[in-house]
Amino acid sequence: MSKKLLSIVSTERKKGNSVLASKYIAKALNAELEIINLVKKDIRPCKACYRCLYGEDCKIDDDVEEILRKIDECDVLLISSPVYWLDATGNLKAFIDRCFMSMKYFERFKNKKGVVLTFHGFEDMKGWASATHLVLAKVLGVDVLANIEIKSALPAEMFMTESIKKLDLVAEAIKEEKRVVMDGQCPVCLNTVFRVIDGKLDCPVCGSLLDTELNILKRGERFTPEWVVKHFSVELIGLKEKYKEIKDELKRQTEMIFGESD
Ligand SMILES: Cc1cc2nc3c(=O)[nH]c(=O)nc-3n(C[C@H](O)[C@H](O)[C@H](O)COP(=O)(O)O)c2cc1C
Repeated sequence: MSKKLLSIVSTERKKGNSVLASKYIAKALNAELEIINLVKKDIRPCKACYRCLYGEDCKIDDDVEEILRKIDECDVLLISSPVYWLDATGNLKAFIDRCFMSMKYFERFKNKKGVVLTFHGFEDMKGWASATHLVLAKVLGVDVLANIEIKSALPAEMFMTESIKKLDLVAEAIKEEKRVVMDGQCPVCLNTVFRVIDGKLDCPVCGSLLDTELNILKRGERFTPEWVVKHFSVELIGLKEKYKEIKDELKRQTEMIFGESD
């Protein structure tokens, strides 16, 4: 049976690289493809009320629940989106911010495979968009097989370059359900952007500590499925409970500084 691919893209270009790459991969796999373009969706900001963490429905009436239901129906999730000013596009970031409410789908999403594809126009301006895209995949809970960055400024430019091989690699990884670690990636979580701490590399996504050859000195656990469940159900709910306990005191302190009207 052919796999059902769902691609989340965020671009106004009808034939943008993110769209064309998704179609290429689906064609190579002879798979069904649905594309959700976040620029066409109504995605409003998270109210940070934490209600969804207690199992309540989100009070915001927009398209996020519909997108999560679509993810629930797919076998493989592609997150395929461009770099805008070194980071993910605004619409894609808006979607991640609403993913507290994806928690109720987590047990099912964690059985799905995912691939992250990030398109940039300039080799020296890739920035950290692929890390943001990777975080989206990990917050949702999908098992990321590959995190691929592709230089392709003009729509379809990648088909005229060596980059097309990266798309074949992705198709192969999905077909074989095989994890691919590219050069320069964190061997634990596939992230490409690091912080330097005392001459060692800290992976800001999974929290692993690596040497400059990217060997693991200490394996990080952040964004593993177990970590995500604990973060949502223990740490975040714990924060909310603490807030309920001390909110009168916080209000009193704030009023002492700003007066009652603020
Ligand atoms: C508003 C805007 C900002 C961009 N910022 C960057 C950037 O910071 N670094 C980069 O390499 N490319 C940047 N680009 C180029 C896009 O990442 C590149 O053209 C990409 O292939 C677009 O993907 P798409 O064809 O799927 O829309 C930018 C493009 C736009 C329109």
